[in-house]
Amino acid sequence: MPEANADKDQAAGPGKTDFAPDIRPATVHDVADLADIHARAFPPEATWHAPAILRLLQTPGTFGLVSGSDAALTGFILMRAAAGEAEILTLAVDPDHERRGNARALVIGGLTTTLAVDCPEVYLEVAATNAPAIALYQSLGFVQTGLRKGYYTHLGTTPVDALVLRWAPDKDA
Ligand SMILES: CC(C)(COP(=O)(O)OP(=O)(O)OC[C@H]1O[C@@H](n2cnc3c(N)ncnc32)[C@H](O)[C@@H]1OP(=O)(O)O)[C@@H](O)C(=O)NCCC(=O)NCCS
Repeated sequence: MPEANADKDQAAGPGKTDFAPDIRPATVHDVADLADIHARAFPPEATWHAPAILRLLQTPGTFGLVSGSDAALTGFILMRAAAGEAEILTLAVDPDHERRGNARALVIGGLTTTLAVDCPEVYLEVAATNAPAIALYQSLGFVQTGLRKGYYTHLGTTPVDALVLRWAPDKDA
């Protein structure tokens, strides 16, 4: 099965690289697989179940991308784009397929899509303790613009802060 292209050029950001060939839009037929990946990637208290994922995919302005092949999806991203801004709602890669460029390709695909629908500013919240995700986003040019103290109350006994990250296209690019 072809893996997402982990070519370092992809770190340059959307517009500077080709769309990874094994990324495609998510459809309602993927929902069970997406729920399965989410459950494998996140702790039980943070898992999104199939009905919630389906509802999001059916919401206008919300879209998903998947990585992998139809035989075996490896990851997905869900995003919302409206009124010039977009948000990464969730991003999950199957633990068996980590560190192969899936997430990078999914985020780049998402940024490319939001640019195409004229929503170039992209925001997300990430747990301050989630070093892998923070490293991923920073490598793609996201910068911290805010901090929500104690935002995640379900990730253990102590509330965890959320970093608010923002990405916008490089005007000089
Ligand atoms: C975070 C996550 C999405 C990364 O997925 P992935 O497919 O393994 O990431 P990639 O292979 O595309 O990695 C891209 C870059 O992210 C960073 N990164 C990814 N995993 C990392 C880790 N465990 N430690 C440090 N940096 C990491 C690195 O900069 C990496 O580039 P490199 O491999 O060239 O060093 C995945 O581990 C996951 O699903 N985690 C659980 C769910 C989650 O935290 N989602 C994000 C919530 S906002």
